[in-house]
Order: sequence, then C-alpha cells, then structure tokens
Amino acid sequence: MGQTRAFPQDFVWGAATASYQIEGGRKERGEAIWDEFCRWPGKVLHGDTGDVADDHYHLYRDDVRLMARLGLDAYRFSISWPRILPEGAGQVNAKGLDFYDQLVDALLEAEITPYVTLYHWDLPSALQRLGGWAARDTVHRFVDYTAIVADRLGDRVQHWITHNEPWVVAFVGNWHGRHAPGWEDAGLALQIAHHLLVSHGLTLPVLREKSGPQAQLGITLNLNPAHPATDSPEDRAAAQRQDGFLNRWFLDPVFKGSYPADMAELYGYRMPRIAPGDMEIIARPIDFLGVNYYARAVVRHAEEVPLLQLASVKPEGEYTAMDWEVYPAALTELLLRLTRDYAPAALYITENGCAYEDSVSADGRVHDPQRTEYLRKHFVASQEAIAQGAPLKGYFAWSLMDNFEWALGYSKRFGITYVDYATQERIVKDSGLYYASVIAANAVEA
Ligand code: FCB
Repeated sequence: MGQTRAFPQDFVWGAATASYQIEGGRKERGEAIWDEFCRWPGKVLHGDTGDVADDHYHLYRDDVRLMARLGLDAYRFSISWPRILPEGAGQVNAKGLDFYDQLVDALLEAEITPYVTLYHWDLPSALQRLGGWAARDTVHRFVDYTAIVADRLGDRVQHWITHNEPWVVAFVGNWHGRHAPGWEDAGLALQIAHHLLVSHGLTLPVLREKSGPQAQLGITLNLNPAHPATDSPEDRAAAQRQDGFLNRWFLDPVFKGSYPADMAELYGYRMPRIAPGDMEIIARPIDFLGVNYYARAVVRHAEEVPLLQLASVKPEGEYTAMDWEVYPAALTELLLRLTRDYAPAALYITENGCAYEDSVSADGRVHDPQRTEYLRKHFVASQEAIAQGAPLKGYFAWSLMDNFEWALGYSKRFGITYVDYATQERIVKDSGLYYASVIAANAVEA
C-alpha cells in the first residue's frame, strides 16, 4: 500500500449487466431459451427464474441515477433479442425497442456512455425450436436482429459488442449442458461456436453502416491464462490444450482467420462445417477486444477425461463464493499476452468481479471488504498492464448490481450494489463506494 497508480486520462470506468440477469419484464417480451431452461427441473438452483430479476425493465430510471451517483463513465448492458423480436424474426415489438431507446437517452443525459452487447445468451425460444445456433440460418436471423437494433440506436450508440463469451454459449450450453439449451455434444458445440463467430463477422459491416464511421466494434471473450499444475511435460501439454480450448479457439479465428491446428487435430471428425469464405468473415477487423476475466485456470493431465484429457486443480489460495481463485497477476499476464500475440487495436475489461456472501448490516449498509480488496488488486493489475504497454482503454465491473447468476440463480451476489429481491431496494455496497472513489481519483492505491 501507499503507492498511487494513475490511469490514463481518458480511461473508461464502467459497470456491466446483461438483459436476462436484470430486466425481468417477462410479460413484455417473447420467450428466451433461459425461460425454458429455468423450468427444467434441477437445472437452475431453487428453480429461480429471470421473470422479475431486478425489475430493471421498470426501474431503469432509478438505476441510471444509481450509475450517476457512482460516477460511472460508461454502462455495458445487453439487448434481449426476444424483447425486440418475440418470435426471433418477423414482427418487431415496438415497446421493446422503445425501452432501449429510452434507456440510451437516460444514459446520455447522465453523461454515461452506452456499451451495447447484442447477444448475452437469451436466444428466442422460437429460434431454438428451429435448431438454435446449430442451424446456420440463426446466423442470418442474428444479423437481421442486430440491424433492427442498430437502425434504432445507431445514431447514439457508438460502442457495440457482438457476442458475450461465445465459449460459454457453445460449450457450457451444448457440451457440458449446464446452461441453456442444455445439450451435451462436443461436435455440436463446435459447430455452434463456429456459427457464433460467423454471425459476429457478418454483422460488423451492418453495425458500421448503421452507426457511422466512429463506431467502435468488438467481441467479448472469457479468457483465462492456463497454468500447469506441475512442471511435468504432461501437465504443461494439458495447459496448452486448455489454452487452445478456451482462448486460442476464439482468438485465432478472430485475429488470424484460422482455427489453431493442434486443437483441430484433437477435435478430428468433430470439427465444424466451414463454408467457403467463413474464416475471412470471422477475421474482419474489429476496433477492440472485450476481455472477461475472473480467474486463471490451473490444470493437470487427466488420461481418463474424454477428448481434452485434462482436469482442473485447486491450488492453495484465496477463493470467492464461486470457488474461483483470486489471482490478479494472471490478469496482467493475460493483457500482455493478448497485446503480444494478437496486437488488438484496443482492449477493454468488459467484466471482472467476484461473488461473496453479502448481507445488510444493522447499520443498513453492506460491508464487503473482500470485494473491495478484489477490485483494488485487479485495478492494480490492470494499471500494471497499461504501464507495460497493453492498449487497455477501460474497465467494467461485474456487476452494477446483484442479479440472476444463471444456473446458480439468485444465490450468488456479484454486485457492487446490493439488491433486496423482496423490495427491489438497491444499496450501494462498501465496494461500490470504494469504486466510486477510484473513479473520482482515476487512480488506485497499490
Ligand atoms: C460471466 C457472464 C456474466 C456473469 C459472470 C459472473 O461468465 O458473462 O453474465 O454471469 O460470468
């Protein structure tokens, strides 16, 4: 402690959310695959659903005031596809478009820059019935949907993120079966990952046309440096596979126009069908890469595990309520590696944060020193990466407020703001107040 580390003057401080996790307003939109998944017994803890969530659909004006109080420069949120197109295609829900239109206006009035994610996992159920992301047609439905959104918001929104964490969409949703739609097929997951990437590339010129030449376009990936459990050649090779599976499988096509050869060989007949021209589409230039970072991955060789032959290990250390290791040094490592290997024009940390068991104290406040410490360490790690040359332009805390944490329902609280789900009261946690002070100083005490 004691040393003050300053951020560049135009550094962007923000917070992030996603439509399904906060909006509620279920009656005012079409069905998403997560609505169905929540009804699947045993899939979502306590059978929680996104029907009401933080009721942000009705309370967004209060939430923008909250952001202004925190001093945020920017707010990253996602658009609910089934709110715009209840059937996935065809008839537009005018009220749904109005909602985002008014949200954007409220943000701009509060001098908060909107960063809009177009797909944060809530595919319209109607499209899932036609095969979802496994069907090539969904790629074109995505482009149609993004065109409608950008047509309406493109005069005011300049920052667009096509997809959030395609790895999670493809693999957690379709290989591990732990997220919607709950399939368990590695080959299918690879085809889906490919379609997500093609849809990303296909919509870039559409967004540019509708948002103008200033538009900043990117994609958000969840990336973890992969560390071997031991120095053995087997474990080191396992870490290489983990890196290929999670990181390079998305980074290489986006930045280099090809899938990593070592992984393609491993996947063998499970490799996706790649249409002529697809790789060029995927590699169209982007203006920034969004990085979601929570923890590193530590893996060992595991003969018995099909396909990847690796398993996670849990080294001694400090862990959050998600059982994710607190390891800020890997954030610096990651940002520098991206800079070196992929030379992105700009980087944003589009998500970083932690869950802890927060509660409201007798004084009416939420004391969450562990989250404050987590944030502080990751700010220092970010600043260190900038000092060493990473083109990091901004940081978005996950999350603005507690919300629906997917398969874990409301049991995990990631917010810098506490949400009382019974009353919808928001209480800025101590970590939120700390974040506000860092934003005001544009510097962190290391
Ligand atoms: C990320 C998701 C985000 C949130 C955090 C904790 O994988 O993008 O929606 O659930 O994890």
